Amino acid sequence: MSNQTPVIELRNVDKSFGPIDVLHEISLKVNAGEVLCLLGDNGAGKSTLIKTLAGVHSPTRGQILLDGKPMRFSRPKDAQEKGIATVHQFGGTFPLMTIGRSFFAGVEPTKGIWPFKVFDRSKANQIAVKAVQDFGITRIDDGDRLVGGLSGGERQSLAIARAVHFGARVLILDEPTAALGVKQAAHVLRIVNEAKRRGLAVIFITHQVMHAMAVGDHFAVLIRGAIAADFRKGEKSREEITDLMAGGETMSDLEAQIEGYMETHDGHPPQVASQSDA
Ligand SMILES: Nc1ncnc2c1ncn2[C@@H]1O[C@H](COP(=O)(O)OP(=O)(O)OP(=O)(O)O)[C@@H](O)[C@H]1O
Ligand SMILES: [Mg+2]
Repeated sequence: MSNQTPVIELRNVDKSFGPIDVLHEISLKVNAGEVLCLLGDNGAGKSTLIKTLAGVHSPTRGQILLDGKPMRFSRPKDAQEKGIATVHQFGGTFPLMTIGRSFFAGVEPTKGIWPFKVFDRSKANQIAVKAVQDFGITRIDDGDRLVGGLSGGERQSLAIARAVHFGARVLILDEPTAALGVKQAAHVLRIVNEAKRRGLAVIFITHQVMHAMAVGDHFAVLIRGAIAADFRKGEKSREEITDLMAGGETMSDLEAQIEGYMETHDGHPPQVASQSDA
């Protein structure tokens, strides 16, 4: 296992925006058929890290390697063309498009992937519906339906199926389950497992420890832009992972503090601090 060439690797990557250092010496590897869960509190640098992989930002120092070869992406399209697909929180799809249309949006006819000069609606629908159903989403059976009418989980699933259909080798998912209920999240997690079974290298960002544990083979915790912990499945308990994600503080101490507060404040919990100062 360990002497296999990783599909994607970061070597000592730093990223600064002017004087602001956001990422420090990030080294990570993801093999084919593996899920790396990237964990960390708000502002830890997770999105910056994946934007660096996706060609939105260039690393200030260090290297990105794809199949062992150093790469330089100057724009997101460069990364996409190399098979690095990023799915954003709302699936990155277009609510007012039909399923068939959105599946082929941005796919250039000259690439040979799409052999039709004129958009063939029924063919497009057929291919899109089949790709999605192959992922086990059998409830999507009509390519003429609007993407906006799909549930959040179905939209995520459509975006993942689309990335896999067009040959993605690296799938980056930035909090795909954040806005989903329990059943929908389980559905997306199943699809992530299916992408992994098909041999993709998956990078999965989440704040939910249970979701990470359901799919992750390998975990990396970012704290203030540096990798604070890097471990494999089974090496840490749920409690240990939760504490790491909270920036190394013990959640049980925090819970005790909240309880103490409530005892002296008529059972009222403390006011939640605003997100902006996180
Ligand atoms: N273009 C930029 N210029 C300056 N600072 C930036 C820029 N982009 C991000 N940052 C800073 O980098 C830090 C990490 O941000 P990032 O969005 O990567 O965090 P995150 O881990 O994705 O957080 P969240 O969980 O809230 O999504 C933050 O302090 C942010 O303000
Ligand atoms: Mg983020």
